[in-house]
Amino acid sequence: MRTRRDFIERVAAYGGSATAAMLALDLLAPASASPPLDLEGSGNGTRVVILGAGVAGLCAAYELGKAGYLCTVLEARSRAGGRVWTVRTGDRHVESDGTSQIAAFADGTYLNPGPARVPQHHVTMDYYREFGIAVEQFGNVNLNAYYHSTAAPPEMQRIRVREAEYAMNGYTSELLAKAVSQSALDTPLTRDDKAKLLDYLSATGGLNKRYEYVNRGAAGYRELPAAGDQAGVPADPYDLMSLVRGGFFAPEREIDQQPTMFQPVGGIDALPRAFATRLRGRIHYNAAVTAIRKTPDGVRIAYTNAQGSPMAIEAAYCICTIPLPVLRKIPADFSPAFAASMNRVTYMDSAKIGLAFKRRFWEEDDRIMSGISRTDQTITQIWYPSYGYFGRGGVLTGAYATGKNARTIGDLAPRDREALALREGSVIHPQYADEFMSSFSVAWQKTPHNMGAWVAWTDDTRKSDYPVLSQPDGRIYLAGEHMSYINAWQAGALESARDVVRRLHARVRAA
Ligand code: FAD
Ligand code: PHE
Repeated sequence: MRTRRDFIERVAAYGGSATAAMLALDLLAPASASPPLDLEGSGNGTRVVILGAGVAGLCAAYELGKAGYLCTVLEARSRAGGRVWTVRTGDRHVESDGTSQIAAFADGTYLNPGPARVPQHHVTMDYYREFGIAVEQFGNVNLNAYYHSTAAPPEMQRIRVREAEYAMNGYTSELLAKAVSQSALDTPLTRDDKAKLLDYLSATGGLNKRYEYVNRGAAGYRELPAAGDQAGVPADPYDLMSLVRGGFFAPEREIDQQPTMFQPVGGIDALPRAFATRLRGRIHYNAAVTAIRKTPDGVRIAYTNAQGSPMAIEAAYCICTIPLPVLRKIPADFSPAFAASMNRVTYMDSAKIGLAFKRRFWEEDDRIMSGISRTDQTITQIWYPSYGYFGRGGVLTGAYATGKNARTIGDLAPRDREALALREGSVIHPQYADEFMSSFSVAWQKTPHNMGAWVAWTDDTRKSDYPVLSQPDGRIYLAGEHMSYINAWQAGALESARDVVRRLHARVRAA
């Protein structure tokens, strides 16, 4: 049978470039998902009202503005960015039950309570480049951070990530190597295949000549190498079943979490700030939408202004980026099918707790510079800052939870969340008690204008409701993180905005 590989090999054999052939056939994986917008022609001043100044609404307004549209953005909050938010000292947060917090952080330190990390292939990076936003590496994976598990034997409840990762890899390599060397696999292998596979497993798994796993140091040292007679003593690896029972593994292997990741210098809100600067005068803040109406030739949006007075705006088209848990409570002329689909879609709960400390004990004592420790306690994760190394104090993300754990945290008053984060975190870092200064927490399911962290499509709703909501309802288009396949990422919001901009522009040009 002629395969695509045959074709490429032939091209190469005849002196052509295999890469060129693959590029021509679209066989190389694309480096980025988002083709340039390149909108042809002008929107000629067509009026578009955009609901919400999160990154989806901002991106739509910015791109449509470039193409000659007149956009107005209505934003309920007093700032741009929505979930893309950086909390610095003095910032205030009031949740839906009325509990209020004010951040008390040292100057130059901050908490990103929503998004915090960006993978290289996301369109988010293209906007950082376009706006000249300086970025720095975000240490998502740090093998020197901790895994903590209450399910592990007492002497190994807190171990370094490398102690689990390298030992698990060694043991599984050992098992596979033994199966290969005894021809116990059901895959037919030539002698040469076998030898190569065994070489690979030995090299990457740290196996000896008998294909047994030995820690030569990658999984950690009992005594680190130095000078004089200190040659270094590799630690005895933890045994396979204790590691398995401890559940020591992390999700950072999926493409959106693989190293190297990035963050904007100074806070994740650099992007909404850059958009908002370019949209000056086009964004109305403290403008909460109260009704979405269809008119014979467009839309009419009712809202309240900063003084609480009722206002209205008319436009030819509307792009609505209001998150669904909020949108479905706003009176609107949506078709019954559209409204029904909106009501079926569910959202995830998520909470973060920022903890400010006087001293960077995680750097000084534990030698953890950025990255994430994981635990099976309610707090789930501890994130170490990827900036300000060797500084005096710093802000840890002392909890980042989703689902049930996020609800447990969200249901507590801020002071009790703080107590929980300190109690559970102290098990991993006993220094907490001496160094703690202040906390600031956000439960997204209780955060006004969001009331949820991110969309949670199921196989069913993706099939039955996503296609309905992806089509405009008359002249109203939905955009946002939820209207994409990159849920829970800024890139989903940006890609969705770009997709709607493309479709709306094609419609205007055709009309
Ligand atoms: P939003 O940002 O929610 O914007 C919607 C806007 O509508 C808001 O500004 C809101 O105030 C406004 N609005 C609501 N109601 C009204 C009304 N009645 N009238 C007027 N305006 C209204 N992404 C990453 O890239 N990296 C990460 O590391 C990451 N981590 C995350 C962690 C958490 C805990 C959360 C919650 C999200 C995370 N995300 C991350 C996802 C990212 O935050 C979102 O995908 C993205 O910000 C969504 O943008 P949006 O414009 O669709 O929605
Ligand atoms: N994008 C969010 C984050 O980076 C939520 C998320 C977590 C998405 C884990 C996928 C996997 O924290």
